Parts: sequence; C-alpha cells; structure tokens
Amino acid sequence: MSKAFSIRVQQSGAEFSCDADDTVLRAGLRAGVGLSYECNVGGCGTCKFDLVEGEVQTLWEEAPGLNPRDRQRGRLLGCQCVPLTDCVIKPMIVDDQFVPVDAPRRFFGELVAIRDLTHDIREFVFKDDQAADFRPGQYALLHLPGVEGPRAYSMSNIRNADGHWEFIIRKVPNGAGTAALFDLKVGDRIEIDGPYGLAFLRTDVTRTVVCIGGGSGLAPMLSIARGLVAEPGMQDVKLKFFYGARGPQDLCGEDELKALPGFGDRLEFLPALSDADAAAAGGWSGAVGFIHEQVKAQIPTDQLQECEFYTCGPPVMINAVMQMLGGELKVSPDRIHYDSFV
Ligand SMILES: Cc1cc2nc3c(=O)[nH]c(=O)nc-3n(C[C@H](O)[C@H](O)[C@H](O)COP(=O)(O)OP(=O)(O)OC[C@H]3O[C@@H](n4cnc5c(N)ncnc54)[C@H](O)[C@@H]3O)c2cc1C
Ligand code: FES
Repeated sequence: MSKAFSIRVQQSGAEFSCDADDTVLRAGLRAGVGLSYECNVGGCGTCKFDLVEGEVQTLWEEAPGLNPRDRQRGRLLGCQCVPLTDCVIKPMIVDDQFVPVDAPRRFFGELVAIRDLTHDIREFVFKDDQAADFRPGQYALLHLPGVEGPRAYSMSNIRNADGHWEFIIRKVPNGAGTAALFDLKVGDRIEIDGPYGLAFLRTDVTRTVVCIGGGSGLAPMLSIARGLVAEPGMQDVKLKFFYGARGPQDLCGEDELKALPGFGDRLEFLPALSDADAAAAGGWSGAVGFIHEQVKAQIPTDQLQECEFYTCGPPVMINAVMQMLGGELKVSPDRIHYDSFV
C-alpha cells in the first residue's frame, strides 16, 4: 500500500490524507475539500497554491498553468504536485462550489467496445465493476500506457448501474495520449480517475438549454442531452444542440441525438460547417460558419438571455462563445457552464 501524508489547508484548517502517488488537488477533492480547479492536467492554473510547510514533488515542471511570475514566487499547481512529507498549503481559492457531489475515485476500467464516429473521432466504452456515478457533462482522467501524465476526457453517457464510462475522442495529430488510446484493443485495462468538472447539468433549471459543442467537444454535450431527457423534472425543458465541425466528413452526433425521445420536437440538432469550400464540395446545404455565430443567428437576442448554456471544445471556440455570450450579449455568468480543452 502506498504511503500517505497529511495535508492541511491554511485558510480553512481542513485536513486530508494524500497518498504518496496522488496529487494534492485530487486527494483533497476525494476527501470532499473544495479546492479550486478546472482542467486537472496542468493547463489552466486554477489550482495554484503556495506551499507554506512541507515538501512536494512536481510531476510536470513545464506545465503551462504557471506563468513566469508564478514560478518566480514559488507557486505550484495542485494537479501536478505529489507530497513528499506532511504539508500545509495555501490555495488561491477555497470554495464550497468545488466540493464534489460524487467523490472522484481511481479504478481500472476494461475497454469493452470501440466505434468509429468519423475518420478521426472514436467512441470508447470502458467497464468498471462498480456503478458509474457522475453528473452529465463531467470528465475523467485516463492514464494511458507509456504516456506522461493522465489526459482529461468527458463522458458522453450518464450515470449507470452497469459501470459503463463512455468517451468520444478525437485523434490529435502527433498527440501522445490519443496515439496510445487509439492503439488500445478491446480487453485492455487502464486506470481511470473521476468524476471531475463543474460544467454539469443543472437539474433544477427549467429554462431552454442551449448546448454548443465543437469537434471533440461532442461528448459532454451529448451527456447533457442524455441527462436532460432522463431527468424527470426536465421533461418540459427544450434543448437546442449546436454542433460545429470543419467539413461534412467531420460531422457526427446526429444519430446519437435521434435515438433520444423528443428529437425533432423539443430537442433540435443544429449543425454548422466552418469550412465553406469543404461544405460546398461535399454538397452540404445546411448552415456554414463558426458555431457561435449560428447560435446568434438562430435564436433571437431576447430569448438568448433567457437560456441556460453549456459549451465545450477547443479554447479558441470557448473564447469566441464566452466573448459573444458574456461580453456582447451580457448573459449572466451563472447561466454559462463550460469546459475548455486547454
Ligand atoms: C476538461 C477536459 C475535457 C476534455 N474532453 C475531451 C473529450 O471529451 N474528447 C477529446 O477528444 N478531447 C478532450 N479533451 C482534450 C484531451 O484531454 C487532450 O488534450 C487531447 O486528446 C490531446 O491529447 P494528446 O495526448 O493526444 O496530445 P498531447 O499534445 O500529447 O497532450 C496534450 C495534453 O496532455 C497534457 N500533457 C502534455 N505533456 C504532459 C506531461 N509531460 N505531463 C502531464 N501532462 C501532459 C497537456 O496538459 C494537454 O492536456 C479534454 C480536455 C480537458 C481539459
Ligand atoms: S486544474 Fe491544475 S492547471 Fe488546471
């Protein structure tokens, strides 16, 4: 069994145990302590902390979540540090909104099914012995053979007693993690750690839900849609599902949405292609342009301000969506839930 150390949060006095092979952030969340985070993979910097006492080891020295000023001040990333001794830490933010509803746990999942959705997007289904407990829109960390550091992937399904964790993943050219993933065979087992993430479906909201996904951001949006139709208290809630892809060969998601009750009625699929030449060459007669522009073009401004938004995808898309919703249209920030794929 791995050795464990005690970590104390200076501001709140909360104390938790962290295994020597676990990160300070994840061990805190497992223990129900509200430490701030977003990406969990060293990219965003939301988990920064000062080390007040003790020693830690940094797993990824060059992680982009720290800027030169942070490094000069000796700041560290909770998602990239494992303890070497008992520690006292001072996180930038300690807030109850980060206390997980379902505590993340580590387990080995067996790959039980693989399905190609496009030429470079694939669905992976892993099975665990225990029920899969997570909220629609959350993500997990996948530890892949021979790859430094885990990779974050959003689940595309919803909680289930069968122990199924489903992911929709785009193969990134020269990406170390996706290369290892796309080499996995049915029957292989990998370590999975989750759930994480705050961009999950708010089930007490009855406003129209607008999902905005781009490319590999399909998975959590599909999970939100599946969660919404399964939620007894949301049966009257409308869903507008915007999905942006480059060309016709990159488009997916419609078959999965069609399988849901209410498709074509309270549930609309609104795709757009951003590459006008590829769209024309492929005989595409639907919308062309960036997906955030489609949202504005297809929903009147006064209605947009009355919707609940979930968005997920590459940082450039998230920035454009945030600029439009928060900046231009002044949608209240508590109605916009997003994960940026740093
Ligand atoms: C919250 C979240 C959810 C995501 N969900 C999805 C999804 O549903 N589908 C999807 O296709 N993609 C998703 N991504 C993107 C995904 O995590 C990967 O970034 C992407 O697949 C590229 O990985 P790669 O290893 O192939 O590329 P690479 O370029 O090899 O790796 C990029 C990623 O690895 C991390 N990394 C690189 N080097 C190291 C190192 N030495 N130590 C530790 N970490 C390192 C980086 O932070 C970055 O996240 C998500 C990302 C985030 C943050
Ligand atoms: S949560 Fe640690 S850098 Fe993003």
